[in-house]
Amino acid sequence: MKDKVCIITGAGGGIGSAIAEALFACGVRLVLMGRNEEKLKKTAKGRECLILPGDLCNDDYIKETIEKTIQVYGGIDLLINNAGVAQSKAFEEISMEEYDMIMATNARAPFLMCKKALPYLQESSCGTIINIASVTAHHGYALQSAYAASKHALLGFSKALSKEYYKKGVRVHVISPGAVFTDMVKISRPDLTGEGMVLPEDIAETVLYLIKMRGSASVTDEIQLHRETKEPFM
Ligand SMILES: NC(=O)c1ccc[n+]([C@@H]2O[C@H](COP(=O)([O-])OP(=O)(O)OC[C@H]3O[C@@H](n4cnc5c(N)ncnc54)[C@H](OP(=O)(O)O)[C@@H]3O)[C@@H](O)[C@H]2O)c1
Repeated sequence: MKDKVCIITGAGGGIGSAIAEALFACGVRLVLMGRNEEKLKKTAKGRECLILPGDLCNDDYIKETIEKTIQVYGGIDLLINNAGVAQSKAFEEISMEEYDMIMATNARAPFLMCKKALPYLQESSCGTIINIASVTAHHGYALQSAYAASKHALLGFSKALSKEYYKKGVRVHVISPGAVFTDMVKISRPDLTGEGMVLPEDIAETVLYLIKMRGSASVTDEIQLHRETKEPFM
């Protein structure tokens, strides 16, 4: 993995920064995306990488990030679409503006990231896309209609893309975590204490596994990672 080039969205905290930490340790050259530059710098801890802050709902940000990555590193080997927004709200209270923002962040942005990165991923000897969905991509929970719609969309898109690009040498994987102890879950489910939850580092381990096990044609393109609980989770 040393010197491979990886773009991570939502790298400023939670799961994204844990993935960045694991990849830094493997000598991967990273491009960190997210809205908050200070948070991205905190993830980088002064290590060499590209810090490109911006809003994934802005198409130009995505286009310019890919261009800058190619200019600086000359290629792209790995793309991790991790950024996302959650919501816990009754269906009748969700505005169409909120719905559009959630779909734009969780479904449209990964679609466009893939579209712009795939020409370069195809040139790589280990082109891999990992999309972070959610258990909500597989189940529907009350108060999560917009979030569930966005994550189902991401999962469906990823399944189709994995078939379309397998023979072209690019692997497309989805990780569908249950509750992971990050700011997202702390805000949306303040009642949960973190006990028994998946940690961001567990997701980072899964990402490393998927990247390293590329040689095995039998690797599943979909992993559901959650612990059994009677509570609904993000
Ligand atoms: N935590 C869970 O329980 C859980 C469970 C299942 C799936 N997931 C999924 O895992 C992924 C990471 O979640 P997390 O728990 O690590 O949440 P988090 O700590 O809230 O991190 C989400 C990241 O996404 C970035 N982001 C959100 N909207 C963005 C936008 N418009 N443009 C650019 N960046 C944007 C944020 O960047 P800024 O901070 O800079 O705004 C933040 O770094 C998400 O896709 C989430 O749906 C989480």
